Amino acid sequence: MRTIGIIGCGAMGAGIAQVVATAGHTVRLLDQHASALEKAVSGIQNSLRKLADKGRLTSEVAEAAGSRLHATADMQDFADCELVIEAIVEDLGVKQQLFRKLESVVSADCVLASNTSSLSLTSIAAACERPERFVGIHFFNPAPIMQLVEVIPALQTRAGLAEEMKALVASWNKLPVLTQDTPGFIVNRVARPFYGEAIRIMEEGIADIATIDWAMTELGGFRMGPFALMDFIGHDVNYRVTESVFAAFFYDPRFKPSFSQKRLFEAGYYGRKSGRGFYSYAADAAAPEP
Ligand code: NAI
Repeated sequence: MRTIGIIGCGAMGAGIAQVVATAGHTVRLLDQHASALEKAVSGIQNSLRKLADKGRLTSEVAEAAGSRLHATADMQDFADCELVIEAIVEDLGVKQQLFRKLESVVSADCVLASNTSSLSLTSIAAACERPERFVGIHFFNPAPIMQLVEVIPALQTRAGLAEEMKALVASWNKLPVLTQDTPGFIVNRVARPFYGEAIRIMEEGIADIATIDWAMTELGGFRMGPFALMDFIGHDVNYRVTESVFAAFFYDPRFKPSFSQKRLFEAGYYGRKSGRGFYSYAADAAAPEP
């Protein structure tokens, strides 16, 4: 595969673009907001430069990766893509609409992939004219650093495609795992009670957020505590994923969302990206590092 398209260039799309450009692919990037696209490209260039300065990439590899990034506002430029990975907002209807539009641009054998954290791949595929070329490729944040990638066939995915994508992802120096199309797949399913119980412990007044985070990192061995991690992921994304997993499990109380997080979401207090979440990220505040 030579040319890969990325649609949605926020936290995840930008990270995935960096991974595939570093692996040698030509990358086409598109976002509904020109500012997000500009931020993504300059962010990736910056990140590549830093990796070169630290000696983790040679400056030739970093420069070559940077030169493979092609931002566009026109989906027609995706006509030569052999794989397109979508990382737009976590909303079924919006994703379905995007893939319908994309299919009118790309060739019949272009593979279509979603980075969804929690939505049913089968229901996204159902909106496609050729659902057999659709698959889930789910990265973790930050994509250039996190090794694990879940590869998920939809019910309609043609036999062998998920294995082909698994091999491709492995060639990007990642550790892919095949999983079935169930809500939250492996990691986000395990993670829901991790966040949910932490919030309930806080709501019941058993301990405050800093203490819970401290306990989970210092005693539990986690790299980040649940509150710092939710702030890092973003409550817009994390809350929507919780709602979606809860509904997808037929409202099983194990996955019930919390009002504390819902209010942060409604207020636009998304965490690090907006300067405030469970913690404050104002310049003078002592914010935890991921
Ligand atoms: P984000 O909010 O940082 O970025 C989303 C980007 O998509 C924005 O730049 C937005 O302008 C763009 N966008 C939205 N609708 C669009 C459309 N119709 N056409 C073109 N561009 C559009 O979100 P983030 O965190 O990058 O998440 C994106 C996807 O990746 C979601 O499905 C999310 O569930 C999934 N994901 C998120 C992870 C995280 O930790 N944040 C981890 C793994 C997956």
